[in-house]
Amino acid sequence: MPLVAPKTAQAMADHWSARAHRFDGAASHIRHRAEWKRVLAAALGERSLDVVDLGAGTGACALIAAELGHRVTAIDGSEGMLAHARASAAERGLSVRFVKATMDEAGLAEASADAVTLRNVLWTLENPCAALALAWRILRPGGTLLVSDGMWRKPGQEREAVEIFGVELPFYNGLTEADARALLRDAGFLDPKPWHGLFSVNPYDAYGEIPFFLLTATKPAG
Ligand SMILES: C[S@@+](CC[C@H](N)C(=O)[O-])C[C@H]1O[C@@H](n2cnc3c(N)ncnc32)[C@H](O)[C@@H]1O
Repeated sequence: MPLVAPKTAQAMADHWSARAHRFDGAASHIRHRAEWKRVLAAALGERSLDVVDLGAGTGACALIAAELGHRVTAIDGSEGMLAHARASAAERGLSVRFVKATMDEAGLAEASADAVTLRNVLWTLENPCAALALAWRILRPGGTLLVSDGMWRKPGQEREAVEIFGVELPFYNGLTEADARALLRDAGFLDPKPWHGLFSVNPYDAYGEIPFFLLTATKPAG
């Protein structure tokens, strides 16, 4: 199977560990937590699921999913980011299985998840298609993939991530909903559904109304 991050995995983990201390400061999932919780509840449904959060970071999706009653495994290559997620889970009394590993090395079992979440992770990957293939492999038939991302910067805008990783990352400026729909379709996922319309505000309003999306799609049952 092609790797998600053959060249950047360690540098990416170091990059996010260095950013971890300021990540939650103005983060959308902190400022608009109730909105994210309401929308994730709708997108994941009421049944209690085995959820794998790939690139969990400080726990934006993982903690909310656990709070919604799902059984959550949170994977991240950055110990710095996971340390914040672990502390927040403990503070909230939430049980989450944290795994410090890159997606390629996490040893996730085939057909072990009802839902896989990838929030704001596809843009950080060298090979986003490989991440979707991995999600496909670990999902049970009929399982749900949830992807959310946005257009983080206009082409040409310089940011540290671009300087460090830009040449390796096909979506380093971000993804549109159309980009994501094409990736999901090419990976074999069916029935894409948009959920971003349920937000009552743009959750990235602190960054100048970033265009974003939240989609689910299904791994066919048979
Ligand atoms: C922009 S942050 C998003 C974190 C979280 N999902 C959120 O919505 O706030 C991207 C995260 O993906 C993680 N990541 C990037 N590439 C990864 C890989 N190949 N394996 C595991 N984690 C990875 C980074 O360490 C970082 O924590």
